[in-house]
Amino acid sequence: MTLPTRERRRLPAVHAAGRPESPPQAVDDAPELSRALAGRAITERDFNALRELIHRLSGIHLAPEKRALLVGRLNRRLRLLGLSSFRDYIELLENGKNANETEQMLNCICTNETHFFREPQQFTFLEQTVYAEWADRAARGERSKHIKVWSAACSTGEEPCSIAMSILERFPPHAGWSLDILATDLSTSALTRAVAAEWPIGKAEEIPGHLLKRFMLRGTGPKDGWMTAGPELRAVVRYQRFNLTGRAQPNERDFDLVFCRNAIIYFDTQTKTKVVNLLLGHLAPRGYLLLGHSESIFGLDATVRRHVPAVYSLRAGSGCAAAEPLPSVRAKDSSKCG
Ligand SMILES: C[S@@+](CC[C@H](N)C(=O)[O-])C[C@H]1O[C@@H](n2cnc3c(N)ncnc32)[C@H](O)[C@@H]1O
Repeated sequence: MTLPTRERRRLPAVHAAGRPESPPQAVDDAPELSRALAGRAITERDFNALRELIHRLSGIHLAPEKRALLVGRLNRRLRLLGLSSFRDYIELLENGKNANETEQMLNCICTNETHFFREPQQFTFLEQTVYAEWADRAARGERSKHIKVWSAACSTGEEPCSIAMSILERFPPHAGWSLDILATDLSTSALTRAVAAEWPIGKAEEIPGHLLKRFMLRGTGPKDGWMTAGPELRAVVRYQRFNLTGRAQPNERDFDLVFCRNAIIYFDTQTKTKVVNLLLGHLAPRGYLLLGHSESIFGLDATVRRHVPAVYSLRAGSGCAAAEPLPSVRAKDSSKCG
């Protein structure tokens, strides 16, 4: 059944697997407080070993003051595995010995907070400027009617579904347009939720009413209190695991839009630079890169043009950005995690 209007009822935040959503809170870093709050304490040496491992595997930079946060996020894994110390946990993970536990560990470390239509001024820019440009160029035969988008840190699916709603509304298939959204993330637990495409009904208030009515369905029976993506959205979004800091490159290129919002904020400067380089290298010549509002890139004046906050396009003639090393990339808070 289609949602009638904007649903404003607030529900308890419960995710698709039915567990309460309780992101770990940053707490004071005193070891005794960590012990009291989180169970097992961690030595300085083991904390540093885990920080290095997490950085190597994901690019995520945990500042020294994130010790309690790391303990809080991983203690549940130790309990489930029956381990009494972080040393035992590190030994389990070392040398890639336990791929499944490595995946679970990264799932715990990744911060998956996301919203529908996050950074609304970017959607306004798309609707008022970019879509008009696509329509004009297609009418003149200068571009195809096939739109390709990469949502490169898609978390639990709200971002790619927001993009899909925004584009499908303006470029419907019956007018000859087609849309393909590749949505990727490192976290397999986030991707599982994204593929299920079910969210608490309270999230409906993040979606403009006319889009909610057209693209989302209300859950009934055991799914009461939930909403789910309708078939039009499911048909255009496909999900894959992809590590932005890994060795592999996405096979696909020439994306009209690449979204990578609120992910590089967790990386150190060198990693941010590498990742932005990768993303720019996968843009179509007239494509746009969208970062989070607190993430900016500087020193790229010759290569990219900034439009509205955190929206960039390649300058004509700048060539494939991935072929050249780029200068620094900055986020306001490079150590934020949690
Ligand atoms: C805070 S969420 C942002 C979600 C969405 N882009 C938004 O702005 O609402 C950050 C996402 O980045 C993902 N992430 C962190 N490190 C990553 C990596 N190395 N490769 C791919 N995704 C990563 C996390 O799993 C998480 O889902």
